[in-house]
Amino acid sequence: MTRREALRNLGMLAGAFAFSSNVLACANAQSKQSADKTTPAPVGALAAIPAVPVATLSNGVKLPRLGLGTFLQPDNDVCKASCLAALKAGYRHIDTAHAYQDEEGVGRAIKESGIPREEICLVSKLWVSDYGANGKTLKAIDEMLGRLQTDYVDVLYVHQPVGEVVAAWKEMEQAYKQGKVKALGISNFDYPDPECDAIFDEIVKNSEIKPHIMQVECHPYAQRLDVKAKIAPYNMQLECWYPLGGKWSNGLILKNETINKIAAARGKSAAQIILRWHMQEGHSAIPGSTNPAHIEENINIFDFELTADEMAQIRALNKEQRLYNATYQQTKGFANGPSM
Ligand SMILES: NC(=O)c1ccc[n+]([C@@H]2O[C@H](COP(=O)([O-])OP(=O)(O)OC[C@H]3O[C@@H](n4cnc5c(N)ncnc54)[C@H](OP(=O)(O)O)[C@@H]3O)[C@@H](O)[C@H]2O)c1
Repeated sequence: MTRREALRNLGMLAGAFAFSSNVLACANAQSKQSADKTTPAPVGALAAIPAVPVATLSNGVKLPRLGLGTFLQPDNDVCKASCLAALKAGYRHIDTAHAYQDEEGVGRAIKESGIPREEICLVSKLWVSDYGANGKTLKAIDEMLGRLQTDYVDVLYVHQPVGEVVAAWKEMEQAYKQGKVKALGISNFDYPDPECDAIFDEIVKNSEIKPHIMQVECHPYAQRLDVKAKIAPYNMQLECWYPLGGKWSNGLILKNETINKIAAARGKSAAQIILRWHMQEGHSAIPGSTNPAHIEENINIFDFELTADEMAQIRALNKEQRLYNATYQQTKGFANGPSM
């Protein structure tokens, strides 16, 4: 499968749219990025770091709630440049995945930034072809760490709830105990399908190490109230993909009239208003971009606060309109195809 085909398929998956050591992970990032700390701290020769709020996961790991997503970076060189722009602008959370085929670019950027590794929350995802027992997933994790040029990731997700995902989870638990992974996450465990529900229950309720975070599509048009209610008892942070609606929506939500009225009144962009809404909702959000100006704009959202009325106006836009509409069965069909 070519890279273009693979990403296109992922696009269908993402857009048929229409303890001790764990507590230390990202601890330095937290000391510099906190809702409680409004005075940004300089890091080396880089710009002052905006006061990004930090989530404390259920095992104590600290995660800045705004990060850079790297889906659809055209290649590793562009990805490296995007990550460097983000790190320079103050991001300390990068979300990648084996399936994006850009982990090498992320790893190179972190090395070249000169920022100490422990100040950056590095998040990646295992693809379905990485899932398996008898050391298969452990080997895939080691290979991932090699691509990222690091000896641990801060969060490791299973990308899709299909195939040998339960076997993969057991090996992720081993990697967690070995310190190679500081927190565990589930991604896309929200298909309305009984088979997916059963896998959710198996991992969320019965596993030895329970997920600390869940990543799903979430934005003003699909605020995922059902998902929030479902995960509430399990103390998982919600992390939002497609926080701006995704590339293939052609700026659908960015063009929304209500959001643009709020933006104009405040002298902010629509993207900044949407991301500020995510922050005030308590979400973690990982907007993707290859444009350094957008990357900088997207983190400059901590010098204002939406009023209760503005928040209510954006909440009222919710129509639970997913921009990703592949079914669980379609996902299973694609995910069990050729490995990436
Ligand atoms: N777990 C999963 O299955 C899954 C699925 C999808 C995504 N993700 C993760 O979530 C991240 C975010 O999702 P996404 O990147 O697909 O969608 P997104 O962040 O909602 O949207 C990205 C699009 O918005 C544009 N954009 C970004 N900032 C902008 C700004 N300030 N003004 C105008 N346009 C702006 C980008 O274009 P420019 O490049 O021109 O800025 C790009 O086309 C991904 O990168 C990935 O890390 C996970």
